Amino acid sequence: MTPSIRQDKIVILSNRGPNDFVWRNGAWVVERASGGLVSMLAPLAQGSGTTWFCCVSEPPDAAGERDGLFTTAADQCAEFDVVPLPMPPDVYQAYYGRISNEVLWMLQHHMLGPGGYELIDHVRYRAWSIGYFEANRRLAAAVKETCVAPRAFLVQDYHLYPLPALLRRYFPGVPSLHFTHIPFPEPNVLRLLPRPWREAILHGMLGADLVGFQTEEDRQAFLGCCKYAIGREVDERAKTVRALDGRTVKVGVYPASVDPDDLLALQKGPRVAEARERFADSRTEFSIVRVDRLDPSKNQLVGFKAFARLLETRPDLHGRVRFRAFLVPSRTDHTVYRDYKATIYREIDRINDAFGPTSGFLPIEVFYTNDREQALAALERCDVLLVNSKEDGMNLVAKEWATIATHPGVLVVSETAGVAEEAQDSALTVSPLDVEETMQAMVRALEMPLAERESRLRRFRSRVQSWTASHWLDAQLADLGLKAKKG
Ligand code: G6P
Repeated sequence: MTPSIRQDKIVILSNRGPNDFVWRNGAWVVERASGGLVSMLAPLAQGSGTTWFCCVSEPPDAAGERDGLFTTAADQCAEFDVVPLPMPPDVYQAYYGRISNEVLWMLQHHMLGPGGYELIDHVRYRAWSIGYFEANRRLAAAVKETCVAPRAFLVQDYHLYPLPALLRRYFPGVPSLHFTHIPFPEPNVLRLLPRPWREAILHGMLGADLVGFQTEEDRQAFLGCCKYAIGREVDERAKTVRALDGRTVKVGVYPASVDPDDLLALQKGPRVAEARERFADSRTEFSIVRVDRLDPSKNQLVGFKAFARLLETRPDLHGRVRFRAFLVPSRTDHTVYRDYKATIYREIDRINDAFGPTSGFLPIEVFYTNDREQALAALERCDVLLVNSKEDGMNLVAKEWATIATHPGVLVVSETAGVAEEAQDSALTVSPLDVEETMQAMVRALEMPLAERESRLRRFRSRVQSWTASHWLDAQLADLGLKAKKG
């Protein structure tokens, strides 16, 4: 069985789609995927005018298992028109694990050296060709086979840099965009990749008519890479780049955001209410909260070290403050992630052993699970939201908090998170590796007068309300020459 033909659709392409396809006990199980990318594109994708391609690894014990996947997608993904593209496990692992996660994610979050992006050897060269490039090629071929007269292509993120150029070969007149959700590297960082790879990445992106980024800094980095790494002509004023075939490619900034109505509805639901009650039973005078994927780029370790310094320097706060850390499991088969988790847990144990006795409870409480409603219940009443990523495309948790907070807390955010730009007049900003500054910012937040906390939160909330997920999407569709069309 092959997926049926789609005609006149807007085609979204991303590694992870709106549904996760999980191979469990010999059958495909469909789950609703989470994350910013999915929630921002879902309103468009819920309409009948859209088809969404995503990548799925065939199960290692049942390679070639495809028919069941297509049938499952057709039968069970009622909300969206999803086309999962099955890939042999070795192709998928090389594309997603070896290149997207171990090379591009690390490089684009400036995680260089041991534990991050280190070197390119023959194994990586092979992963690039049989995995990364191959996966992009297969996606383009699948679109060619199954789509007739598509209206537009919306290509998402670092997994699919080469794709716009590949699609253009088959569909030269179809408008297309590429959006990068994570930070874009400046020319000297991109130059750490082999020359043919950077060329495939940049020329691949320039296959689109519109290339989008989260922040002005990312846009500038991309323009710099086009100019210095591949010698393209860049118009700094118009923010355009001339592609190899002479087309002018527009480079835009579209900060990712949240859907306030959706969040407020979720906040009113029974699962948040249950969690709210559980937390009320163990309320302390102050709570510091963080919610992020367990990922070295999120910099949880420094956050805990800063909290330890807070307890060391302020014995008067013992027994009055608790740090609730919601760590979402991520890329758990990757050694770097497993090692990072072990390091974090050692640090948490050390802090809880040292300060538990004088606090009367464990000062750090960890929730290692992906439970959005539970996290919202803790976020809405926190005194400090800590977002101290080493580098972050945007960080939607900060915007979620600003939307649902029922108590005036303070955002402590690293300057290197995309959201810092929009929160600069409302948050306390810190340098992500500076433990002392992070500790001082948390103390300042805890001691900030009520009126100041309220006015900071009000400012950030109105900023978020004035640029939501639908602005993010509509602005891109408009710049691509399409009117937002939902049905
Ligand atoms: C973060 C990034 C997204 C990215 C995703 C991949 O959420 O902001 O841009 O697509 O991670 O995560 P995954 O679990 O699919 O590797």
